[in-house]
Amino acid sequence: MFNFESFDSKVDTEIIGRNFIYSEEVESTNSFLLNKANKFNSDGTILLAEKQTKGRGRKERVWYSAKGQNLTFSILLTSKKYLGKKFNLLNFTTSLSVAFALENLYQLKTELKWPNDVLVNGKKICGILLESTSQGSKIERVVIGVGLNVNQGLFQGNFNLEPTSVKLELGESVDREKLLAELLNTFEELIQKIDTNPDEIMKDWKDRCNLIGEKISVTEDGNTKYGIFDDLDEEGFLLLKTKNKIEKIHFGDVSAA
Ligand code: BTN
Repeated sequence: MFNFESFDSKVDTEIIGRNFIYSEEVESTNSFLLNKANKFNSDGTILLAEKQTKGRGRKERVWYSAKGQNLTFSILLTSKKYLGKKFNLLNFTTSLSVAFALENLYQLKTELKWPNDVLVNGKKICGILLESTSQGSKIERVVIGVGLNVNQGLFQGNFNLEPTSVKLELGESVDREKLLAELLNTFEELIQKIDTNPDEIMKDWKDRCNLIGEKISVTEDGNTKYGIFDDLDEEGFLLLKTKNKIEKIHFGDVSAA
């Protein structure tokens, strides 16, 4: 069971995680926080669930996570300060926070895969799903869901990308409370930089993205494009260099080609 006191003694944020909801079981932490009817509105609210019965990944994929072993949680953002942010930068800030936490606590070498996966040794350790709700043209809430594989020792099923966990990479279990506190402390620090120093976020993200400059394929809706991963634009979209043009890619699954 997640030890809230232990987590609380390590987290030193002002907003993120100050309202902390713990749940043994929920359909999906993202769906719960996105739903206004659940009446959680305060900026920075975290919902951590030991088990999700309808955990969701990108593109309507199912997200499986063994009960009580990992960190499956969502962060709710409702303040105007964050809602106007470019979503890719919020994605990058989240995946970078995971990468920094894994590097700082366990010296794991991380790799970031566009748009929002964190890999270790070429295997997926964390997936991120950012969703939002709007009223008319106004974004009301943004929910960032994080599925970080921590102490799960076995993964069964068919995966797009082979999964791993901190335990599998280190050969031992780790303290989930300490890892979540480190991740949220870093996230709160980095989210401020979206305004003050977005270039640093982009640079730190690109430094960990090994596919930049490489031949890649991008698949979206059964359609595959090939080219060189040229760069990211200032909004975080992928720039794909093909024979005679540079194409901006908004969505898609990227692989080395
Ligand atoms: C992906 O890689 O496709 C994204 C996976 C995101 C999974 C997390 S687990 C917590 C949150 N709640 C969900 O239903 N999904 C996200």
